[in-house]
Amino acid sequence: MNNLVQIAQLNKTFHNGQEEVFALKNISLRIDTKDYLAIVGPSGAGKSTLLHIIGGLDEPSGGCVTYKGRDVYAMGEKERALWRNQSVGFVFQFYHLIEELNVLENVAIGSFVRLRKSAFKTAQTLLEYLNIEERKNFFPSQLSGGERQKVALARALINDPEIVLCDEPTGNLDKDSQDKVVELLERLNTEKQKTVILVTHNLELAKRAKRMITLKSGEMVIS
Ligand SMILES: Nc1ncnc2c1ncn2[C@@H]1O[C@H](COP(=O)(O)OP(=O)(O)OP(=O)(O)O)[C@@H](O)[C@H]1O
Ligand SMILES: [Mg+2]
Repeated sequence: MNNLVQIAQLNKTFHNGQEEVFALKNISLRIDTKDYLAIVGPSGAGKSTLLHIIGGLDEPSGGCVTYKGRDVYAMGEKERALWRNQSVGFVFQFYHLIEELNVLENVAIGSFVRLRKSAFKTAQTLLEYLNIEERKNFFPSQLSGGERQKVALARALINDPEIVLCDEPTGNLDKDSQDKVVELLERLNTEKQKTVILVTHNLELAKRAKRMITLKSGEMVIS
């Protein structure tokens, strides 16, 4: 397997007024192409912070993240935004769907600026792949939690990213919908050769990944 992401001595400190929060402490981690990594740990352990930093969304306080040997935070803002748009698919914990757009538009929008003509076609294909095509003209408010989660996943995949980062994609879902979302992640990893990182509180789902790490108070502990 090839090294895709390399994280070295990563630190993240937040300043909440007078108080300093050490969200990540000296994290080093290597993620290979086609890896499927689960990140578990209690609330406040630093899981979302780590995922955001890997995805180029939040600058670390120390250490570095390289993607195929390129230092993500040495890139300029524009360059990093372009890299993120092309290489990273992010599934946020609370979907972040645009309420005014229907399902098809929500999925297509990530590729609309660059590929106006093919955006809807690609979105349609993805909705079929995720088995939610019959909801394409619905608005987010008309969907169930599991359906919204699928749309968020389709949207993350619109630019055919190499790496898919999912923050609690099964939170608030019933067991059936949880299983469906996780089966989709597994298929992305095995059929589409995507590198997948899954943040979850659910140990049972995490165990289905190829690899698991545990964070506690910002530190990586042996699982
Ligand atoms: N933007 C921010 N400003 C200040 N502190 C923050 C910020 N984001 C996170 N933190 C703090 O950093 C720590 C780690 O937060 P993080 O969101 O990474 O935890 P988590 O493991 O994802 O938790 P959960 O399982 O509840 O989602 C927490 O103590 C949190 O309060
Ligand atoms: Mg979180």
